[in-house]
Amino acid sequence: MNKALILLDAVSFDFGPDRRVLDRCTLRVERAERVGLVGSNGSGKSTLMKLAVGILRPTGGKVEVFGKCRMRERDFHEVRRRTGFLFQDSDDQLFCPTVAEDVAFGPLNLGLSREKVQQIVTETLAALRLRGFEERITHKLSGGEKRMVALAAVLAMNPEVLLLDEPTAGLDDVAAARVVEVLATLPQAMVIATHDSWLLDRLATRRVRLAHGRLDEESEPAPASRSGCVLV
Ligand SMILES: Nc1ncnc2c1ncn2[C@@H]1O[C@H](COP(=O)(O)OP(=O)(O)OP(=O)(O)O)[C@@H](O)[C@H]1O
Ligand SMILES: [Mg+2]
Repeated sequence: MNKALILLDAVSFDFGPDRRVLDRCTLRVERAERVGLVGSNGSGKSTLMKLAVGILRPTGGKVEVFGKCRMRERDFHEVRRRTGFLFQDSDDQLFCPTVAEDVAFGPLNLGLSREKVQQIVTETLAALRLRGFEERITHKLSGGEKRMVALAAVLAMNPEVLLLDEPTAGLDDVAAARVVEVLATLPQAMVIATHDSWLLDRLATRRVRLAHGRLDEESEPAPASRSGCVLV
């Protein structure tokens, strides 16, 4: 069998002696798949995604990304370079004074030229309808604006796989639709943790659900409309 882009193989995670959050969860993400990760608040969605990039390490099971087993901190350096991780909290993502600097940070770190980075920043902001935000002070943006800029910062790196933790949280309908429109054009595999069924109806090729520490394939979901969102 071909190696998966991401394989979380029977991973478990405990936040303390009596706090098992994930119990032998297996998630396999193949090329071009868009996996919707659903589950109630506190079910462990963010925790699961953090295991894939080594922000947290499993207490059991194994993590394979880009065909290699990843265990130590240095194994994850390459993973983080090649993976776009949208944090649930935009304040964890944005740390530069201005929007342009935040969006440029990743591509500059990848060693691209200033001219190329400038072009990427302009194009990425334009795609998310954030033209004119370049010199805005990041920490003074609204929650929804920060969400969009954080997504721009992730997409600007043109990562091979995207792990998106609540990409539309706090966004109005127009901004959420824009995010879906942009993500739908991308060829990359994605894992999308969300409570937004409308988003998943448009993007996800399949869904998995976390409940009581276990991860299971979700059967055919009920359709949702933007006005009457079904929470997942
Ligand atoms: N640093 C931590 N220390 C202890 N417990 C934690 C820590 N971080 C998360 N938890 C707990 O682990 C569980 C899973 O949290 P997680 O953030 O992964 O859930 P989630 O499914 O992403 O929830 P949400 O839908 O609210 O984003 C929760 O019960 C949470 O309280
Ligand atoms: Mg979460």
